[in-house]
Amino acid sequence: MAKQLYYNIGELVLVESQGRPYLRGPEMNQIPRLRNAFIEVADGKIVNIGEGDPSQLDSYKEGIDCQGALVLPSFVDSHTHLVYAANREDEFAKRLEGKSYAEIAAAGGGILNSARRLSETSEEELYQSARRRLEDLISLGTGAIEIKSGYGLNLEAELKMLRVAKRLKEEMDLPIKTTFLGAHAFPSEYKDRHEDYIALIIEEMLPAVAEQNLADYVDVFCEEGYFNLDQSLRIVEAAKAYGLEAKLHVNQFNSLGAVKAFVDRGALSLDHLEVMNAEDIKVLAKSNTIATLLPGCSLFLDIPYGPARKLIDKNAIVALATDMNPGSAPSGNMALMLALGCSQMKMKVDESICAATLNAAAAIELSEQIGSIEIGKEANFLVCKPGFSSASIAYHFGHNIIAKHIIRGKVRYEAS
Ligand code: NIG
Ligand code: FE
Repeated sequence: MAKQLYYNIGELVLVESQGRPYLRGPEMNQIPRLRNAFIEVADGKIVNIGEGDPSQLDSYKEGIDCQGALVLPSFVDSHTHLVYAANREDEFAKRLEGKSYAEIAAAGGGILNSARRLSETSEEELYQSARRRLEDLISLGTGAIEIKSGYGLNLEAELKMLRVAKRLKEEMDLPIKTTFLGAHAFPSEYKDRHEDYIALIIEEMLPAVAEQNLADYVDVFCEEGYFNLDQSLRIVEAAKAYGLEAKLHVNQFNSLGAVKAFVDRGALSLDHLEVMNAEDIKVLAKSNTIATLLPGCSLFLDIPYGPARKLIDKNAIVALATDMNPGSAPSGNMALMLALGCSQMKMKVDESICAATLNAAAAIELSEQIGSIEIGKEANFLVCKPGFSSASIAYHFGHNIIAKHIIRGKVRYEAS
């Protein structure tokens, strides 16, 4: 297999994790980098990395000159609701008129609005729209993604969403993990019989999802007005029996004790975390559970940002993700999350990069394959336009500084 060379890389960021699946606390600000570097790729994997003159390499003649540019690992978006039927601009307009997210949800909007629209949409249409979104995200630097169900809210529709995500995994040739989020909201027909919906999730949905091998993880929206802590615990416990680890929506609007409860049960990641008391921060920071912060949701809903600075200072493993969804976070732009991480959450440049690459890969248990630029890992990386440094990602917020996106060794996006 011929080797493909990328050379004249001015700054090559996150070149190794020294076997660590993630970096925590102060380690996040010490990511290794090389100057004047090159990468050799074969068979979709990184086979060689070095510094200095590459002209002696056999691959040099056909090599790609990166013109002194910054190269970094592809972004990993470890929390998205990429599969959905329709945008919710009407609700956005209502919020601009003064209605709150909670008021809109209480009036039948929000997640239930998305579930209604999803029930009217064919599986093929859902697939095509999610695929278009994913192609757009690849152009913005996302090279691996987690996708949740949660707009089905009945057995068939939840399976439909997960089949769409699985088909993306099969046909789009990039790392994808899927998460069952049947416990996203109570459907209106279960308004007065919540226990029946919990039973449906545990007795029918989970077994079917597991039997059809459609999900890697389980998620629950543990929040006032959604699933309480006891219900969330029962669902997570039931999912464990099927081998589904937990990645959970907690502490978005209220601190209900979910952080300690799920850290104690070894959750893989706890996500959102906009509302955290001192004890929540302490418990999470001491654990191996990954704290996934979603600054796009804070921006869009005008709610507090997750306490990235405090978590990192207390030694937590912090990841950044977009939460892309039609209600609370319509942007899937990871570079923008880095910008918000730095400007609003007081993260440092290297911390933001680590949070969006290696730590995010760990949040979907893929950090042995992706998340850093190391020999043996998949060749998933971003070649930026010349003239930018690692600080530029956050600095030029809202701009796309990516020139080429390589996934599994193939160029999947090239700026015109
Ligand atoms: O992660 N918080 C719960 N779920 C989504 C939003 C869902 C929606 O509004 O459609 C989130 O923010
Ligand atoms: Fe979410």
